[in-house]
Amino acid sequence: MIGVFDSGIGGLTLLHELTRLLPHEDFIYFADTDHVPYSYHHPEEIRIFVENAVLFLREKGCDAIVLACNTATNVAVEYLRSKYDFPIIAIQPAVKVAADHSEDHNRILTCATPVTLKSERYNNLVKTLGIENRLDNLPLPKLVEFAEKGIFEGPEVEEYLRTEIGKLNSADHHFIVLGCTHFTFYEKLIEKLFPNLEAVDGNEGTARQVKRILEKENLLKVSRSGYITFYESGRKVKYLDKYRNLLAKLRLS
Ligand code: DGL
Repeated sequence: MIGVFDSGIGGLTLLHELTRLLPHEDFIYFADTDHVPYSYHHPEEIRIFVENAVLFLREKGCDAIVLACNTATNVAVEYLRSKYDFPIIAIQPAVKVAADHSEDHNRILTCATPVTLKSERYNNLVKTLGIENRLDNLPLPKLVEFAEKGIFEGPEVEEYLRTEIGKLNSADHHFIVLGCTHFTFYEKLIEKLFPNLEAVDGNEGTARQVKRILEKENLLKVSRSGYITFYESGRKVKYLDKYRNLLAKLRLS
């Protein structure tokens, strides 16, 4: 069984990829709804939230944990990996994908939470790739709030995206990195509003990495039912409509 963690509904975008790639696995999805959005918390506090959720998922029997939350990865993954020895696979902003597929004169736009953009881990990744001079960072904390309220389209969201992305977007931009799992719900809308931008995220790459790790650790299951259980900050979700509808929405997109 695999535990998938996010602050809210964002990690469903990675869970969706995981269920496609590993249809026989059972999953527990943990949304930390008591504390979402994480942007309004101090990184130290976020690290405690994430560690508690990870330990909860282990107690429920998860063999491997997936951090389906870029913010959680950037503040907690090194700490967790140094403390625990079970597999922890973590999403991160797909800046490498954008760097590998763009020309040196193309600029890259990363949108993520302010916590991710300020984190040492993300900034080290950018330095390692040598793209500091052609990268623009854009925090979009309100997009997490829209997603949590179930607002995925309409004038309010469009206005927000037009204003914020419009501040930085130029003809030199080719890729927009969706460095927060909540933002994948807006991929099509962003590409419609800004036809010069191609959106990339870390979901597919992370799902493939989960499969590789499970194979390597001999944890891959082919006989389970593909069942998903949902928890909100440790409380089992009984009425699954919200999660089922969001997964269905992702399947149709
Ligand atoms: N979905 C999360 C991420 O990928 C964070 C959203 C939030 O709680 O601010 O960064």
